[in-house]
Parts: sequence; C-alpha cells; structure tokens
Amino acid sequence: MLLEQSDFFNAAKVGATERKSVNVASVPQRSPFRYPGGKTWFIPDLRRWLAQTPRPHLLVEPFAGGAIVSITAVAENLVDNALLVEKDPMVAAVWRTILGGEAEWLAQRILDFDLSVENCHAVLDVPEVEPREEGFRTILRNRINHGGILAAGSGMLKHGEGGKGIASRWYPQTLAKRIRAIDAIRHRLTFVEGDGMDVMDAHKTEPSTAYFIDPPYTAGTKGKRAGNRLYVHFQLDHARLFNLAAEVAGDFLMTYDDDAEVMEMAVNRGLRVCKVPMKGTHHRETLELVIMPNLSQFS
Ligand SMILES: C[S@@+](CC[C@H](N)C(=O)[O-])C[C@H]1O[C@@H](n2cnc3c(N)ncnc32)[C@H](O)[C@@H]1O
Repeated sequence: MLLEQSDFFNAAKVGATERKSVNVASVPQRSPFRYPGGKTWFIPDLRRWLAQTPRPHLLVEPFAGGAIVSITAVAENLVDNALLVEKDPMVAAVWRTILGGEAEWLAQRILDFDLSVENCHAVLDVPEVEPREEGFRTILRNRINHGGILAAGSGMLKHGEGGKGIASRWYPQTLAKRIRAIDAIRHRLTFVEGDGMDVMDAHKTEPSTAYFIDPPYTAGTKGKRAGNRLYVHFQLDHARLFNLAAEVAGDFLMTYDDDAEVMEMAVNRGLRVCKVPMKGTHHRETLELVIMPNLSQFS
C-alpha cells in the first residue's frame, strides 16, 4: 500500500505530520562519523515514531554505520537500550573502541593528532595495528576522504570546504566531545560485529524490540549504481531482509531509495510504504521510501 506523505505517521498512529524535508543543521550531530547515506535527516521522524506507546525496550539498528539513530534514541531517552550491528570491520573497530571502554583513549588520540598529509599517510599506510588504533584510523579516513567513503577507490579530500583540503572536516574538539558523550551512555548501547539480518532473526519474536533498518541501497537497478561505491559491504539478500521485516513481532521503520523493485518487494509482503523528501549532498531534494509494518502485524 503506497501512502500519501501526510499519512506517514497518521497510519503509524503517531500523529499526523506535514512532510517537508528536514533542515539537518537543526538536528544535534551525535556520531563521530560523517556517514554516506547517514540518517540525520530522519531524526525528527524518529522522535515521533518512538514517542508511540508502548515504548520499545530495545532498538536494534541492524545496519548501523554511523549509528546516529541508535545514539540519538538512547541519548534522548526514547528507548531504554540500543543494539548496533555492523559488518564492516573498520567501522566495527570504532564502535568496539568507544563502547568497549576505550573512548577516552580515542578522544585523546584525536586531540593529540597533528593533521597533515604526511602524518595521515604515516597512520594509514601501516598494514596492521592494534584494534583501538584501527578505530582511530577509521575515524581519520572517514573525516579526510571524499564523502566520508571508506570503500576502496575513495581518496583524500584535495580542496574540501573553502580550500581547506583534508582539514575541512577534521574537528578534533567536536569529535572528542561526541565520543565522550557516547561514552557516558555506553552502558545502554551494545555493539555486535556481524550480519544485521542474523541479529534481526534472533530477536524476531520479541514484541518490545523495534528496528530501524537502513541497508545499503543496492536493490533494484537505480540502487545498484548508487550503493556499490559507498560501502565495503554493499551486497545484500534484499528479499531475505524484506521477509524478516514482514516477520518481526516488534515495530520497524525501514528506509530505501525510491526504486520500483524495492516498492514491489514491500507491496508483495503487504508492507506500507511512504515516499518522503530528503535533502542530500549539494542540497538536492530526492525522495526516499519509508517502509512500515502492515497494521495487522500489531492486531
Ligand atoms: C546505509 S548505511 C547505514 C547508515 C546509518 N544509518 C547512518 O546513519 O550512519 C548501511 C551500512 O550497512 C553496513 N552493512 C552492509 N551489509 C551489512 C550486513 N549484512 N550486516 C550489517 N551491516 C551491513 C554497511 O557497511 C553500511 O555501514
């Protein structure tokens, strides 16, 4: 069923909302990553969604990336706990470091680092390093590469904002502050390195577990072009993901790009779909799909 934009939360019984694209500058940035496909624009919708009763005990984010959704949900006390899952070992190294008690080390490592092209090479060209250093260099790579892209083929920013090159997205004080803020709530955040769908499968019978599902957009024809170069792990069994979404006992929201094949997978399983506007890079407005459970899943 395709819903009108204004029906999005009406249908989710959370209160009607006028759909306009969100000004991301108005949303607090809590993740140390600048993540390609990041969901900062979704935060106002997330708040309305999680304000519904009964309040979920656990929020699972099976494709965590920069995990802005889980961190915000816990920081703003919209859920009790969140579980982040990520398959990319580089991204995993960051979450393991911060949530594993080494947040202060990472914050200090960032503050002490003297950013220059030579010093970046000295850090990034070492073949193997200890796990927390791997976390540090993932953050470094994420902040100095084009578009925050970690996948092979992405290079360092040459010009960046205002001709500042690699320094244009390197804000040590801000990053340290965000990492320390996550450290303060880490007892409510759990990280699993692995397959997000396996974790969904393990929780699928729990009614008070909710899911924010933001997979790589690599289904359909349009998606195959878009998602492939953004993430190291871009291949996904999208049909399995839709089957799991239709099966979970708890509530979920799933985002995808606006693609006919994606729409078909949702509609075939009786899931509700809403098209919402978002402003991407270069402030171009595009539509994304927000996919929700069939209401009968809750009756
Ligand atoms: C669209 S991004 C998520 C962005 C995130 N919502 C944010 O705001 O930063 C998708 C993520 O899923 C990860 N991924 C891909 N396949 C996965 C899998 N099977 N299990 C867990 N994570 C996976 C990718 O490495 C990527 O980080």
